[in-house]
Amino acid sequence: MSRSRMALALAVAVLLPRLACAADDARVPSDLPLGVSPVLYKISVPPGGEPTPAKAALGEKLFNDKRLSVNDTVSCATCHVPEKGFVDHKPLSEGVGAPKQRTQRNSPTVLNAMFNATQFWDGRAPSLEEQAKLPILNPIEMGQKSPDDVVAKVAKLPEYRDAFQKVFGRAPTYDDLAAAIAAFERTQYAGDSPFDQALTFGACRQSMRLSLVPRSRRNPVSPLRLPSSTVIPLIQTAGLRCILWERLVYPTPC
Ligand code: HEC
Repeated sequence: MSRSRMALALAVAVLLPRLACAADDARVPSDLPLGVSPVLYKISVPPGGEPTPAKAALGEKLFNDKRLSVNDTVSCATCHVPEKGFVDHKPLSEGVGAPKQRTQRNSPTVLNAMFNATQFWDGRAPSLEEQAKLPILNPIEMGQKSPDDVVAKVAKLPEYRDAFQKVFGRAPTYDDLAAAIAAFERTQYAGDSPFDQALTFGACRQSMRLSLVPRSRRNPVSPLRLPSSTVIPLIQTAGLRCILWERLVYPTPC
């Protein structure tokens, strides 16, 4: 096969599956950061749990609304402060039971919680939806007595009546309220941190960097004690493969 034919075959092999995948997966955002692979995103968003813009906006409003608590003083955001990476920087958190009572555990971040297999330190909630129902009814956290009390309170607020109608096509229910909050939480993911970079590229990036060092300054230490005339091309090939992998293969959504 000639060089140009081989290049064409390579391009088709790499690009065709990408187009097919992107087309059959409108549910997966096209701009996921490094470290959040399309596959991870897909398995973390159950069918029906997609964060449509209207549902996520309703969830965000609920997440930040102190009126969800029994005495209008505590919201989810009290202990998961969005500006602080969704934590509160306190050893134990303070809800409606404060100052007498605090939570028994430290509040973990909500950022990337969508990727947890289960929720809470002990994994006792199987999903974000089930998790969201608990702090509202916890006497120390938000103090509501029952789901019916919460729904009745929310349904009295015209802004929520309208929003629930628009998103779910019915009056507020406790399940829908939790679903909206979970949808908002599924928009709160982050990646491309130094850790993600190290995990994804690690040695790859290092070899790319080495291959950019001017020839005169290169003095790679070979663990195999190979002469540098052998080692440098090896490093360069590895670097080239990294670039190809990063540019073409990594963002493939399947
Ligand atoms: C009074 C403070 C407080 C309030 C209010 C609160 N949380 Fe939490 N949250 C915590 C604490 C503490 C934990 C850990 C508890 C445990 O693991 O037993 C937690 C755990 C979580 C987790 C699990 C994260 C993980 O990594 O396991 C999520 C998600 C979460 N909260 C979301 C919410 C939502 C949504 C609301 C509002 C409906 C809310 N929280 C209200 C303190 C709070």
